Amino acid sequence: MNLQGRNFLKLLDYSSEEIRYLLDLSKDFKEKKKNNIKHNYLKGKNIVLLFEKTSTRTRCAFEVAGYDLGMGVTYLEPGSSQMGKKESIEDTARVLGRMYDGIEYRGFDQSIVETLGKYAKVPVWNGLTDEFHPTQMLADLLTIEENFGRLQNINFVFMGDARNNVANSLMVASSKMGMNFTCCAPKKLWPKKELIDTCLEIAKKTGSTLNFTEDVMEASKNADVIYTDVWVSMGEPDEVWQERINLLKPYQVNRQVFKQANPNAIFMHCLPSFHDLKTKIGQDIYQKFGLTEMEVTNEVFESNNSKVFDEAENRMHTIKAIMYATLKDNE
Ligand code: CP
Ligand code: NVA
Repeated sequence: MNLQGRNFLKLLDYSSEEIRYLLDLSKDFKEKKKNNIKHNYLKGKNIVLLFEKTSTRTRCAFEVAGYDLGMGVTYLEPGSSQMGKKESIEDTARVLGRMYDGIEYRGFDQSIVETLGKYAKVPVWNGLTDEFHPTQMLADLLTIEENFGRLQNINFVFMGDARNNVANSLMVASSKMGMNFTCCAPKKLWPKKELIDTCLEIAKKTGSTLNFTEDVMEASKNADVIYTDVWVSMGEPDEVWQERINLLKPYQVNRQVFKQANPNAIFMHCLPSFHDLKTKIGQDIYQKFGLTEMEVTNEVFESNNSKVFDEAENRMHTIKAIMYATLKDNE
């Protein structure tokens, strides 16, 4: 499997076999990290992390993975570069591509990361756009496989804002890897038809199924994985909270929902999550709307079924695999 020089912009660009390869590579890197085996295979290379939105996991995963691989890492925080304001995306890509061996981008429209990828002449990795969050997917797939020993035929349920970047990506990931994907959300928040059709085509080849429902109890029955994400994503205006709460309150992942799932079912969330009042936004929402928990109850979040911190850790191992596979030199 040779992924040298490739961009990692969305999972749709990768075959099931290539995703399989990246997952196996991630396991290998995780093993090495746990056993303190040095793996600075990319010594002498440098990468830049371009963030137009905030981050904890993605930024830190890229940084630590970069250091472990022996690379130099530059972090550009939101608003701190010329990109988009004084310099076009094309020009930024061509400048950074002359200095760095790889570029990570987190920001807004998917077209921005696609443009970077087109002009940089070095691998560009998508660290989240409004449409997709592909590096999150590898961590999620790895976490599911660690718990069930397989991906094929896993009953995967997404509850919440099912047309956000994470949900879109999960639908693609499920269809690529043979999981049975259930989208459980109000119809208004289902993924775009075009993306559903694309995934249905992929599913024909992998044996995956795709279901769409507004019925929480039906969706969660026999689930192996119940996954949710925030109700309002980065970049959306505060004005949408009221409507989103009204739409999504019935889709909160709580004990009743979880009771329907398989006995060994797991709870997943890309994080950050509003499961208590220990955040500023959580407090604001509580003051305005009286909610103490949002997309998931604290009880489910803190339960033994919850794998959210394994999932967060796996961001680092999987991002390491992506960078290594796309940056390594010929042996
Ligand atoms: N899951 C995720 O992307 O987290 P951050 O926003 O902290 O990077
Ligand atoms: N849907 C969320 C994911 C954060 C990792 C957002 O875009 O804010």
